[in-house]
Amino acid sequence: ISEIARVKNLNRLQIGKHEVEAWYFSPYPKEYAHLPVLYICEFCLSYFPSPMMLSRHRQRCTLLHPPGNEIYRHQDISFFELDGKRQLTWCRNLSLLSKCFLDHKTLYYDVTPFMYYVMCQRDSTGCHVIGYFSKEKESAENYNVACILTLPQHQRHGYGKVLIEFSYELSKKEGKLGSPEKPLSDLGLLSYRAYWAEVIVELLINTTDELSIDDIAQKTSITHADIMNTCTTLQLFKHYKGQHIICLSEAVLEKHEKVRNKRRRRIYAENLIWKPPV
Ligand code: COA
Ligand code: NA
Repeated sequence: ISEIARVKNLNRLQIGKHEVEAWYFSPYPKEYAHLPVLYICEFCLSYFPSPMMLSRHRQRCTLLHPPGNEIYRHQDISFFELDGKRQLTWCRNLSLLSKCFLDHKTLYYDVTPFMYYVMCQRDSTGCHVIGYFSKEKESAENYNVACILTLPQHQRHGYGKVLIEFSYELSKKEGKLGSPEKPLSDLGLLSYRAYWAEVIVELLINTTDELSIDDIAQKTSITHADIMNTCTTLQLFKHYKGQHIICLSEAVLEKHEKVRNKRRRRIYAENLIWKPPV
């Protein structure tokens, strides 16, 4: 908006037991801007200017998990589905918090057109938010993710891929192909490319029949364009007897083996209890 609005205001955020650096401007009310640290209640995502005010709030706050329905649980990981219209305050607080780590997307002041899928890790003290993605209730372009975020204290542990995998599981249940809203951030693009490559190579390894682009799309809910791009990047298309075929090279197989051994968590589709919202 204005030039001032582009300057990062907050410096640090305390969320539960973590303190993290804000990356970008977020439009918290101006009396909260320019504080050295903003104190966030990790369960209701309300924000406070001092540790004292947060602790006073914590004595009253009874929330132990995001409001909304738990639609997935496996081991200590749960997903909650929130409706931006019904869980308005929580979703607004989530948007404010996530804007601290998102540069290029307009913050959705209006959260009502979105559903929110929030991934938490459960322990004896409650369900701790790790990350989330938002999804338009109606997407003309068939986007299956609007914004996606792993809180910085949890990044680079494979949770981004788990969030992405979950978003495609929802698309499979809808019987649709999906793709994330563009433009993606650099980190977003890296994560999606890694996910697409992993899923497509895994499918090719485990299938003896020849697969067309459309077969891959139907099995993964990844769009034809995203599959084509991934196969091109991985140089999987080979010209053979006048035909284009998909062919896995040694290098791709080796890389895939490493990725698979590193993968700590995945989504177990049978644990997803969900129908597309009407
Ligand atoms: N540098 C290099 N590669 C990276 C990377 C980084 N900082 N972060 C992610 N990647 C790539 C890697 O290939 C990684 O796989 P690997 O660890 O097996 O090599 C892959 O992406 C997935 O990483 P993962 O740990 O599953 O992702 P994450 O939990 O760190 O979350 C984002 C990824 C994009 C959600 C996270 O970086 C984020 O929240 N960024 C800020 C918000 C944003 O930009 N969102 C996308 C636009 S809406
Ligand atoms: Na947002």
